[in-house]
Amino acid sequence: MSATEVIRIDAGGWGLSWAADEEGRLHQLGLGVEGHDVSVDVAPRWYPSTFPTLDGTDPFRPPPLQITHADGTLSTRLALRAVERDTIDGGEHVVVRTGDELTGLAVEHHARTHSASGVLEQWVEVHHDESGPVTLLAYDSIAPFLLVADDAEVCHFGGSGWADEWRWSTDPLVIGTTVLGNLGGIQPHLQRSPCLLVSPDGPSSDDAGTVIGLSVCWGGNAHFSLDVRPTAEPAAPRELRLRAGANPLGAPYRLEPGVRFVTPSVAWTWSTAGRDRVTASFHDWARARILRDPDERRMIVANNWEATFFDFDEARITGLIDGAADIGAEVFLLDDGWFGTELPRDDDTQGLGDWEPDERKLPGGLGPLVDAATDAGIRFGIWVEPEMVNPRSVLHRTHPEWVVRDRRDPREHRNQLLLDPLRAQVRDFEVDVVTQTLARAPGTSYVKWDANRPVTDPGSATLPADRQANLWVDLVHATWDVMARATAAHPDVEMMLCASGGGRVDFGTLRWFHEFWTSDNTDPVARVRMQWACSHFFPASTMAAHVTRWGGRPLDFASAVALSGRFGLDVDLDALTDAEREVLRRAVTVARRTQDVVQSGSVHRYVSPVEGPDRSRAAWSVGGIGGRTILFAYQLEHSSTPPPLLVLRGLRAGAACRVTTFDLTGDGCDVVETLDVAQLAEGLPWPLSEPLTARVWEIAELDAGDDR
Ligand code: GLA
Repeated sequence: MSATEVIRIDAGGWGLSWAADEEGRLHQLGLGVEGHDVSVDVAPRWYPSTFPTLDGTDPFRPPPLQITHADGTLSTRLALRAVERDTIDGGEHVVVRTGDELTGLAVEHHARTHSASGVLEQWVEVHHDESGPVTLLAYDSIAPFLLVADDAEVCHFGGSGWADEWRWSTDPLVIGTTVLGNLGGIQPHLQRSPCLLVSPDGPSSDDAGTVIGLSVCWGGNAHFSLDVRPTAEPAAPRELRLRAGANPLGAPYRLEPGVRFVTPSVAWTWSTAGRDRVTASFHDWARARILRDPDERRMIVANNWEATFFDFDEARITGLIDGAADIGAEVFLLDDGWFGTELPRDDDTQGLGDWEPDERKLPGGLGPLVDAATDAGIRFGIWVEPEMVNPRSVLHRTHPEWVVRDRRDPREHRNQLLLDPLRAQVRDFEVDVVTQTLARAPGTSYVKWDANRPVTDPGSATLPADRQANLWVDLVHATWDVMARATAAHPDVEMMLCASGGGRVDFGTLRWFHEFWTSDNTDPVARVRMQWACSHFFPASTMAAHVTRWGGRPLDFASAVALSGRFGLDVDLDALTDAEREVLRRAVTVARRTQDVVQSGSVHRYVSPVEGPDRSRAAWSVGGIGGRTILFAYQLEHSSTPPPLLVLRGLRAGAACRVTTFDLTGDGCDVVETLDVAQLAEGLPWPLSEPLTARVWEIAELDAGDDR
């Protein structure tokens, strides 16, 4: 390639341009809406380096790729070798091959576009034939360079841990290096989601402003690093180098000659129309590229966890199955506590790993429960945690060597240890947990896959002493291998991903699952805020939301919150009053009517429960399916500001609409009126004043088609 030939990546409405200088070093010419259409004005060497590697191009910032070579050389100096392009599946796969003249190490930048959604996936592959292993000390997937305003902002989602997922923070992009990462290896997303929103031009809103949305598709430790510097430029006073990928903290990777190291894919998009556009892009891309069975409505699940915890027997479960069917649920999910023989699982202290039904609780095994569900006309689902073991279990007694640990006594967490998936036998065992469980309960068509502890004493007997830290990366690939095998063996079984709640919510792992358990925190007040944040990236079809008693909130309010996700229930169906049963029946009826739109429609947000001075209210709509829109409004707390008007977006101009206000109290007295869009566009008055109240509307455009 000549020095001025430009490598353009058109990501669908935005993109990037790279060019090599006379020495073959890659530089970023452009990025953003016109970024894929930039020409070389001055020599490429005057543009920022594309991917610094301790090569002298950007010596004062942490590099996205840092390698100690086999002979001890610390720098890597890459030159462009080739560019290859392939058209695939509604987009392009561009491979930019570079190599180090001194060491022969090869680095490939991969970019996969999906023009219809505007999401770009990028990752890096490294391989070499040096005289021995090299050590990767930093291995990001992307490192774009941007000029940003001095009031640029970042929205990130990190909380205190369990039951506090998706806690929203909006912060200024401050000068210096900010690292937003997570650790723990398993369930890292309990602490921080691997998703980020950056507003480079200053504050953005739901429907205005420039917003970059990013998501690291990685079921392990991930990070974003935001390095911000002042410049002398008044128009764009700051520089940002944004790195994203797997978190290398404590995880230097020793890479053998001839082995390929593939970084996680980072999916990202660029909106000039605010955050709702970022959401539309991620949802469309996820449906096209990630989700299993994206066009099917997810079923209404009734779970027994919060109703019984570990305390149940066959009669209790068959009673709940009948109750679930009676109320209109479509799948009954039997949670933790059904297994363990010699050391039965009556609490979380023992039995994990011994996947045979507990004969005291279930003398006939799982079969009678599947039969009960079938007789009741619903499906049966079951909980497993294949990656874990209680030290007090037959499995651990038989295979004490199977766990992740170093030379110290391993620390228990929730009384359990992590099985080491780097062992082939362990991987086979984990696949078998799913296969054997399904074989014990023929007809089961839904599995909840849990993982309830982080890695605390990293170490694997399968790795030599100088490669122990490879565990952090190899663990993810080995776990994905298990998930891929288990789901390939049972393609018709629906899968829910769970890790102490939403501890493993990433687009990399989601490929094998239909949905995830968003959080163990099912208090509807907390859930409105979590679902608000999570839905910026993940469609409602994936975001399991159950009506429970958590927080002691009114059941109609809890139902209205669950209706905005993948609706389900987890309440003691045997302990309901008649009035409560009617509330749940009503919620199920509304779920059946609305979930095709909620799970697949386009999201428009109006009132934020996580930003601004008054976070007491929330409202958003999901629409565009068959001309129908579902609008949600929640009053979470007492308000300190005047009520807002709900000015709806996404409706077809000129159409008349049938507006149904659902009555969720159980009386079933919906209010139906006909309004034209112009009236709706003027704004609906805020209908709520009391905390813990909600309103759900269906707005059906008369004579409208599907315009999503
Ligand atoms: C985790 C899950 C819960 C439940 C329990 C069972 O905490 O997130 O939903 O399945 O495990 O032990």
